[in-house]
Amino acid sequence: MAVNNCKLVSLPKFADGMGALSFAECGSHVPFEIRRIYYLYDIPKGAKRGAHAHKCLQQLIIPIHGSFVIQLDDGFARSNFSMGCPDKALYVCPMIWRDMSDFIGDAVCLVLASELYDEDDYIRNYDEFLRLARD
Ligand code: TYD
Repeated sequence: MAVNNCKLVSLPKFADGMGALSFAECGSHVPFEIRRIYYLYDIPKGAKRGAHAHKCLQQLIIPIHGSFVIQLDDGFARSNFSMGCPDKALYVCPMIWRDMSDFIGDAVCLVLASELYDEDDYIRNYDEFLRLARD
């Protein structure tokens, strides 16, 4: 899979003097059935998250609060995404290494996932990832 298959997804936003509301629906904004959600929060300054790829998992990453940077890597090319608008999500396809950094503003990162948690789906060794991705 290529980083070109990973895309920013614009979510609807309804905003008025009383605040804003965004949402994501399967089919229109989420190109998979959601089987799990999880979220990162209380992230200390300088923390780095991610540093893994998934064999099968698809994800939609939503910066609910604050901002952070995601670097995607398909084994050949890399792409950086500055995540900071709650109505701009990032779709990540399988077999993409991701590094997450520069969490600021009490960042909260919501992840919609296509599968239940499965440690066997993770690739946590970068050399192994490169071997599999370049095969
Ligand atoms: P991990 O995916 O490595 O977090 P990150 O990529 O953000 O650094 O997960 C951290 C820990 O949480 C790990 O021990 C597995 C556990 N975990 C679950 O039990 N269920 C889940 O849905 C997720 C995402 C993680």
